[in-house]
Amino acid sequence: MSQFLVTGAAGFIGRSIAKRLLEEGHDVRGIDNFSTGKWENLEGLEKMDFMQGDITDTHVMERGCEGAEVIFHEAALASVPPRCWIQLPATTLM
Ligand SMILES: NC(=O)c1ccc[n+]([C@@H]2O[C@H](COP(=O)([O-])OP(=O)(O)OC[C@H]3O[C@@H](n4cnc5c(N)ncnc54)[C@H](O)[C@@H]3O)[C@@H](O)[C@H]2O)c1
Repeated sequence: MSQFLVTGAAGFIGRSIAKRLLEEGHDVRGIDNFSTGKWENLEGLEKMDFMQGDITDTHVMERGCEGAEVIFHEAALASVPPRCWIQLPATTLM
């Protein structure tokens, strides 16, 4: 059993990864700020240690990374308006 962190755990891809890891018996911590994620995506993932927070927040990530052996980084704005990344790189390129 390993300790995993999944960012974007309330999103389409993150939720699927977290679900699979839990089914395999791993310890899973999830982080999401619900910018596009949905609470209903967490249904069935009650065993996950979930944190609502932003990955650009150092405190959130320090806590989220504690003990993590593997990180699946899926937190992202999957659809970014053209050239938006030039003005907002910290929140659109990560
Ligand atoms: N869905 C696909 O078919 C697909 C295919 C290839 C690659 N990807 C990539 O996988 C990643 C995830 O895509 P997705 O489809 O799951 O998108 P999604 O929007 O469903 O999930 C992204 C999650 O990240 C969260 N998030 C965004 N910014 C955050 C922040 N700053 N802090 C914390 N959480 C934050 C959102 O709330 C959301 O729950 C993206 O990088 C996307 O480009 C997706």
